[in-house]
Amino acid sequence: MPLLEISDLITAVEPRSAHRLPVRRADVIRQLRESGDERAARLVAELPVDQDGVLDPHAVDRLLISVHTELQRLNEELRIGHRLVHLLGPLFTAIRSTAGQQGPYRLVDVGCGLGYAIRWLAATNALGADVELVGVDLDAALVGEADRLARAEDLDCRFVHGNAFDLPEAATVYISTGVLHHFRGPALAEFFQAQAASPALAFCHFDIAATRLAPIGARIFHRARMRNPLGRHDGVVSALRAHSDETLLRAAAVPGIRPLLYEPRGAVNPFCTTLRPIIGVRPHLEAPLRSALGRDARRIVGPEQLAEAGRR
Ligand SMILES: C[S@@+](CC[C@H](N)C(=O)[O-])C[C@H]1O[C@@H](n2cnc3c(N)ncnc32)[C@H](O)[C@@H]1O
Repeated sequence: MPLLEISDLITAVEPRSAHRLPVRRADVIRQLRESGDERAARLVAELPVDQDGVLDPHAVDRLLISVHTELQRLNEELRIGHRLVHLLGPLFTAIRSTAGQQGPYRLVDVGCGLGYAIRWLAATNALGADVELVGVDLDAALVGEADRLARAEDLDCRFVHGNAFDLPEAATVYISTGVLHHFRGPALAEFFQAQAASPALAFCHFDIAATRLAPIGARIFHRARMRNPLGRHDGVVSALRAHSDETLLRAAAVPGIRPLLYEPRGAVNPFCTTLRPIIGVRPHLEAPLRSALGRDARRIVGPEQLAEAGRR
Protein backbone atom coordinates (compact mmCIF):
# COMPACT_ATOMS: atom_id res chain seq x y z
CA MET A 1 0.00 0.00 0.00
CA PRO A 2 1.38 3.45 -0.84
CA LEU A 3 2.58 5.56 2.07
CA LEU A 4 1.11 9.04 1.84
CA GLU A 5 2.10 12.31 3.50
CA ILE A 6 -0.81 14.47 4.59
CA SER A 7 0.93 17.68 3.51
CA ASP A 8 1.12 16.38 -0.09
CA LEU A 9 -2.64 15.85 -0.16
CA ILE A 10 -4.16 18.91 1.53
CA THR A 11 -2.86 21.40 -1.04
CA ALA A 12 -2.96 21.11 -4.81
CA VAL A 13 -1.61 23.41 -7.52
CA GLU A 14 -1.58 23.38 -11.29
CA PRO A 15 2.13 22.47 -11.83
CA ARG A 16 2.86 24.97 -14.63
CA SER A 17 1.03 28.07 -13.37
CA ALA A 18 1.30 27.17 -9.64
CA HIS A 19 -2.35 28.23 -9.49
CA ARG A 20 -4.05 26.82 -6.39
CA LEU A 21 -6.78 24.22 -6.83
CA PRO A 22 -9.60 23.44 -4.38
CA VAL A 23 -9.13 20.26 -2.32
CA ARG A 24 -12.14 18.32 -1.02
CA ARG A 25 -11.59 16.97 2.48
CA ALA A 26 -13.57 13.79 1.73
CA ASP A 27 -11.22 12.98 -1.18
CA VAL A 28 -8.14 13.29 1.06
CA ILE A 29 -9.74 11.14 3.76
CA ARG A 30 -10.66 8.49 1.17
CA GLN A 31 -7.07 8.35 -0.18
CA LEU A 32 -5.64 8.00 3.32
CA ARG A 33 -8.14 5.27 4.27
CA GLU A 34 -7.38 3.40 1.03
CA SER A 35 -3.69 3.50 1.96
CA GLY A 36 -4.58 1.95 5.33
CA ASP A 37 -3.71 5.08 7.35
CA GLU A 38 -6.72 5.59 9.63
CA ARG A 39 -4.77 7.86 12.00
CA ALA A 40 -3.92 10.30 9.19
CA ALA A 41 -7.56 10.20 8.00
CA ARG A 42 -8.68 11.20 11.51
CA LEU A 43 -6.24 14.14 11.56
CA VAL A 44 -7.58 15.44 8.24
CA ALA A 45 -11.19 15.00 9.39
CA GLU A 46 -10.50 17.72 11.99
CA LEU A 47 -9.53 20.35 9.39
CA PRO A 48 -12.17 23.02 8.64
CA VAL A 49 -14.12 23.03 5.35
CA ASP A 50 -16.59 25.33 3.59
CA GLN A 51 -20.20 24.43 2.75
CA ASP A 52 -18.99 22.42 -0.29
CA GLY A 53 -16.59 20.31 1.77
CA VAL A 54 -13.52 22.13 0.36
CA LEU A 55 -10.63 22.53 2.84
CA ASP A 56 -10.29 26.09 4.15
CA PRO A 57 -7.15 27.32 2.30
CA HIS A 58 -6.23 29.80 5.06
CA ALA A 59 -6.38 27.12 7.75
CA VAL A 60 -4.26 24.82 5.56
CA ASP A 61 -1.69 27.61 4.99
CA ARG A 62 -1.43 28.32 8.72
CA LEU A 63 -1.01 24.63 9.45
CA LEU A 64 1.71 24.12 6.82
CA ILE A 65 3.62 27.23 7.92
CA SER A 66 3.59 25.99 11.51
CA VAL A 67 4.75 22.48 10.48
CA HIS A 68 7.53 23.95 8.31
CA THR A 69 8.62 26.19 11.18
CA GLU A 70 9.15 23.03 13.22
CA LEU A 71 10.91 21.47 10.23
CA GLN A 72 13.24 24.47 10.17
CA ARG A 73 14.24 23.69 13.75
CA LEU A 74 15.14 20.14 12.66
CA ASN A 75 17.22 21.59 9.82
CA GLU A 76 19.06 23.72 12.36
CA GLU A 77 19.75 20.72 14.59
CA LEU A 78 20.92 18.64 11.64
CA ARG A 79 23.25 21.52 10.64
CA ILE A 80 21.89 21.43 7.12
CA GLY A 81 23.48 24.80 6.27
CA HIS A 82 26.97 23.54 7.15
CA ARG A 83 26.40 20.31 5.24
CA LEU A 84 25.33 22.23 2.16
CA VAL A 85 28.38 24.48 2.27
CA HIS A 86 30.70 21.51 2.81
CA LEU A 87 29.80 20.39 -0.72
CA LEU A 88 28.63 23.57 -2.43
CA GLY A 89 31.83 25.42 -1.50
CA PRO A 90 34.04 22.93 -3.44
CA LEU A 91 31.40 22.69 -6.18
CA PHE A 92 31.53 26.44 -6.83
CA THR A 93 35.35 26.33 -6.64
CA ALA A 94 35.21 23.72 -9.42
CA ILE A 95 32.72 25.79 -11.43
CA ARG A 96 34.80 28.97 -11.10
CA SER A 97 37.98 27.14 -12.13
CA THR A 98 36.42 25.74 -15.31
CA ALA A 99 34.00 28.50 -16.34
CA GLY A 100 35.02 30.46 -19.39
CA GLN A 101 33.63 33.62 -17.84
CA GLN A 102 33.14 35.10 -14.39
CA GLY A 103 29.86 34.90 -12.43
CA PRO A 104 27.37 35.76 -11.22
CA TYR A 105 26.24 32.18 -10.77
CA ARG A 106 22.71 31.30 -9.72
CA LEU A 107 21.83 28.77 -7.01
CA VAL A 108 18.18 27.67 -7.08
CA ASP A 109 16.60 25.82 -4.13
CA VAL A 110 13.80 23.63 -5.52
CA GLY A 111 10.87 23.40 -3.08
CA CYS A 112 12.45 25.87 -0.65
CA GLY A 113 9.50 25.86 1.77
CA LEU A 114 10.23 28.60 4.33
CA GLY A 115 13.59 29.17 2.66
CA TYR A 116 15.77 28.09 5.56
CA ALA A 117 18.65 26.85 3.38
CA ILE A 118 18.70 29.96 1.18
CA ARG A 119 18.36 32.33 4.15
CA TRP A 120 21.18 30.51 5.97
CA LEU A 121 23.43 30.78 2.91
CA ALA A 122 22.56 34.49 2.57
CA ALA A 123 23.12 35.22 6.25
CA THR A 124 26.55 33.56 6.27
CA ASN A 125 27.60 34.64 2.75
CA ALA A 126 29.32 31.24 2.73
CA LEU A 127 29.34 30.81 -1.06
CA GLY A 128 30.62 34.26 -1.97
CA ALA A 129 29.12 37.40 -3.44
CA ASP A 130 29.15 36.00 -6.98
CA VAL A 131 26.45 33.42 -6.14
CA GLU A 132 22.89 34.68 -6.46
CA LEU A 133 20.55 32.85 -4.06
CA VAL A 134 17.00 32.02 -5.18
CA GLY A 135 14.37 29.89 -3.41
CA VAL A 136 11.37 28.61 -5.40
CA ASP A 137 8.24 26.86 -4.23
CA LEU A 138 4.89 25.91 -5.77
CA ASP A 139 3.24 26.77 -2.46
CA ALA A 140 2.46 30.49 -2.32
CA ALA A 141 1.99 30.65 1.46
CA LEU A 142 5.34 28.99 2.27
CA VAL A 143 7.36 31.01 -0.21
CA GLY A 144 5.56 34.20 0.88
CA GLU A 145 6.64 33.52 4.45
CA ALA A 146 10.21 32.80 3.27
CA ASP A 147 10.23 36.20 1.58
CA ARG A 148 8.85 37.94 4.68
CA LEU A 149 11.54 36.35 6.90
CA ALA A 150 14.33 37.29 4.47
CA ARG A 151 13.13 40.90 4.36
CA ALA A 152 12.89 41.04 8.16
CA GLU A 153 16.56 40.01 8.29
CA ASP A 154 17.53 42.22 5.33
CA LEU A 155 19.09 39.25 3.53
CA ASP A 156 20.49 39.32 0.02
CA CYS A 157 18.40 36.55 -1.57
CA ARG A 158 15.04 36.21 -3.29
CA PHE A 159 12.04 33.94 -3.30
CA VAL A 160 9.82 33.08 -6.24
CA HIS A 161 6.39 31.47 -6.26
CA GLY A 162 6.24 28.92 -9.08
CA ASN A 163 7.83 25.87 -10.63
CA ALA A 164 11.62 25.82 -10.15
CA PHE A 165 12.07 24.46 -13.68
CA ASP A 166 10.10 27.27 -15.30
CA LEU A 167 12.16 30.24 -14.10
CA PRO A 168 12.88 32.92 -16.71
CA GLU A 169 16.61 32.84 -15.82
CA ALA A 170 18.73 29.67 -15.90
CA ALA A 171 20.10 28.12 -12.72
CA THR A 172 23.80 27.30 -12.46
CA VAL A 173 23.22 24.84 -9.63
CA TYR A 174 20.00 23.31 -8.31
CA ILE A 175 19.74 22.19 -4.70
CA SER A 176 16.98 20.89 -2.46
CA THR A 177 16.52 19.62 1.07
CA GLY A 178 13.94 17.02 2.06
CA VAL A 179 12.17 17.11 -1.29
CA LEU A 180 13.34 14.02 -3.23
CA HIS A 181 11.19 11.46 -1.39
CA HIS A 182 8.08 13.36 -2.52
CA PHE A 183 8.82 12.33 -6.11
CA ARG A 184 7.76 8.75 -6.73
CA GLY A 185 8.12 6.44 -9.73
CA PRO A 186 8.62 8.18 -13.09
CA ALA A 187 8.38 11.62 -11.41
CA LEU A 188 11.80 11.02 -9.79
CA ALA A 189 13.51 10.40 -13.15
CA GLU A 190 11.65 13.38 -14.68
CA PHE A 191 12.96 15.57 -11.84
CA PHE A 192 16.56 14.76 -12.81
CA GLN A 193 15.84 14.91 -16.56
CA ALA A 194 14.49 18.46 -16.18
CA GLN A 195 17.82 19.54 -14.70
CA ALA A 196 19.93 17.69 -17.28
CA ALA A 197 17.90 19.35 -20.05
CA SER A 198 18.47 22.82 -18.54
CA PRO A 199 21.70 24.83 -18.85
CA ALA A 200 22.51 24.03 -15.17
CA LEU A 201 26.03 22.74 -14.49
CA ALA A 202 25.24 20.71 -11.38
CA PHE A 203 22.75 19.70 -8.71
CA CYS A 204 23.02 18.68 -5.07
CA HIS A 205 19.87 17.29 -3.46
CA PHE A 206 19.83 16.33 0.21
CA ASP A 207 17.28 13.85 1.45
CA ILE A 208 16.80 11.32 4.23
CA ALA A 209 19.22 8.39 4.01
CA ALA A 210 17.36 5.09 3.71
CA THR A 211 19.19 3.37 6.53
CA ARG A 212 17.49 0.62 8.53
CA LEU A 213 17.50 2.99 11.49
CA ALA A 214 15.86 5.90 9.64
CA PRO A 215 12.20 5.06 10.46
CA ILE A 216 12.84 4.41 14.16
CA GLY A 217 15.18 7.42 14.36
CA ALA A 218 12.54 9.62 12.72
CA ARG A 219 9.90 8.35 15.14
CA ILE A 220 11.98 9.25 18.20
CA PHE A 221 13.22 12.53 16.74
CA HIS A 222 9.84 13.81 15.56
CA ARG A 223 8.10 12.79 18.78
CA ALA A 224 10.74 14.63 20.80
CA ARG A 225 10.95 17.71 18.60
CA MET A 226 7.60 18.29 16.87
CA ARG A 227 4.39 19.33 18.58
CA ASN A 228 2.16 19.25 15.55
CA PRO A 229 0.55 15.82 14.95
CA LEU A 230 0.62 16.37 11.16
CA GLY A 231 4.35 17.14 11.30
CA ARG A 232 5.00 14.05 13.41
CA HIS A 233 3.00 11.87 11.03
CA ASP A 234 4.65 13.17 7.87
CA GLY A 235 8.12 13.13 9.43
CA VAL A 236 7.89 9.41 10.13
CA VAL A 237 6.29 8.61 6.75
CA SER A 238 9.02 10.58 4.96
CA ALA A 239 11.70 8.36 6.55
CA LEU A 240 9.79 5.27 5.44
CA ARG A 241 9.58 6.72 1.91
CA ALA A 242 13.28 7.61 1.69
CA HIS A 243 14.83 6.44 -1.60
CA SER A 244 17.63 3.90 -1.50
CA ASP A 245 21.13 4.82 -2.72
CA GLU A 246 20.61 2.59 -5.78
CA THR A 247 17.27 4.21 -6.69
CA LEU A 248 18.77 7.71 -6.50
CA LEU A 249 21.85 6.87 -8.54
CA ARG A 250 19.72 5.13 -11.17
CA ALA A 251 17.25 8.01 -11.42
CA ALA A 252 20.02 10.62 -11.59
CA ALA A 253 21.91 8.76 -14.34
CA VAL A 254 20.62 10.79 -17.27
CA PRO A 255 22.58 11.72 -20.40
CA GLY A 256 24.93 14.66 -19.85
CA ILE A 257 25.11 14.19 -16.08
CA ARG A 258 27.64 12.29 -13.99
CA PRO A 259 25.67 11.06 -10.90
CA LEU A 260 27.57 10.81 -7.61
CA LEU A 261 26.39 9.92 -4.14
CA TYR A 262 28.01 11.45 -1.08
CA GLU A 263 28.28 9.20 1.99
CA PRO A 264 26.56 6.04 0.67
CA ARG A 265 24.73 3.80 3.12
CA GLY A 266 27.38 1.09 3.50
CA ALA A 267 30.23 3.52 4.16
CA VAL A 268 28.84 5.50 7.10
CA ASN A 269 27.65 5.11 10.65
CA PRO A 270 23.83 4.76 10.38
CA PHE A 271 23.47 6.42 13.81
CA CYS A 272 25.01 9.62 12.44
CA THR A 273 23.81 9.76 8.84
CA THR A 274 20.37 11.28 8.61
CA LEU A 275 20.57 13.21 5.37
CA ARG A 276 22.92 12.78 2.45
CA PRO A 277 22.95 14.23 -1.04
CA ILE A 278 22.80 12.89 -4.54
CA ILE A 279 25.06 15.10 -6.64
CA GLY A 280 25.05 15.45 -10.41
CA VAL A 281 27.72 17.32 -12.36
CA ARG A 282 28.46 17.93 -16.00
CA PRO A 283 31.26 15.39 -16.68
CA HIS A 284 34.04 18.02 -17.03
CA LEU A 285 33.38 19.13 -13.42
CA GLU A 286 33.97 15.77 -11.73
CA ALA A 287 37.78 15.97 -11.54
CA PRO A 288 37.90 19.61 -10.31
CA LEU A 289 35.14 18.85 -7.77
CA ARG A 290 37.09 15.86 -6.41
CA SER A 291 40.23 17.95 -6.26
CA ALA A 292 38.45 20.82 -4.43
CA LEU A 293 36.99 18.33 -1.93
CA GLY A 294 40.46 17.01 -1.09
CA ARG A 295 40.35 14.02 1.31
CA ASP A 296 36.55 14.19 1.46
CA ALA A 297 36.41 13.10 -2.19
CA ARG A 298 36.82 9.57 -0.79
CA ARG A 299 33.27 9.82 0.53
CA ILE A 300 31.89 10.06 -3.01
CA VAL A 301 30.76 7.05 -5.04
CA GLY A 302 29.53 6.69 -8.60
CA PRO A 303 27.15 3.96 -9.81
CA GLU A 304 30.09 1.66 -10.72
CA GLN A 305 31.53 1.66 -7.17
CA LEU A 306 28.10 1.06 -5.67
CA ALA A 307 27.51 -1.91 -7.98
CA GLU A 308 30.95 -3.29 -7.06
CA ALA A 309 30.25 -2.87 -3.32
CA GLY A 310 26.93 -4.71 -3.82
CA ARG A 311 28.73 -7.70 -5.41
CA ARG A 312 31.24 -7.99 -2.56
C1 LIG B 1 8.87 19.09 2.15
S1 LIG B 1 8.46 20.58 1.41
C2 LIG B 1 9.75 21.75 1.71
C3 LIG B 1 11.01 21.31 2.29
C4 LIG B 1 11.99 22.44 2.47
N1 LIG B 1 13.02 22.36 1.47
C5 LIG B 1 12.60 22.36 3.86
O1 LIG B 1 13.71 21.85 4.01
O2 LIG B 1 11.95 22.79 4.82
C6 LIG B 1 8.58 20.24 -0.33
C7 LIG B 1 8.17 21.43 -1.18
O3 LIG B 1 8.57 21.21 -2.53
C8 LIG B 1 7.72 22.01 -3.32
N2 LIG B 1 7.96 21.63 -4.73
C9 LIG B 1 7.90 20.40 -5.28
N3 LIG B 1 8.22 20.44 -6.59
C10 LIG B 1 8.52 21.73 -6.89
C11 LIG B 1 8.93 22.42 -8.07
N4 LIG B 1 9.10 21.78 -9.24
N5 LIG B 1 9.16 23.73 -7.99
C12 LIG B 1 9.00 24.39 -6.84
N6 LIG B 1 8.60 23.80 -5.68
C13 LIG B 1 8.36 22.49 -5.71
C14 LIG B 1 6.34 21.78 -2.71
O4 LIG B 1 5.47 22.84 -3.00
C15 LIG B 1 6.67 21.71 -1.21
O5 LIG B 1 6.43 22.92 -0.55
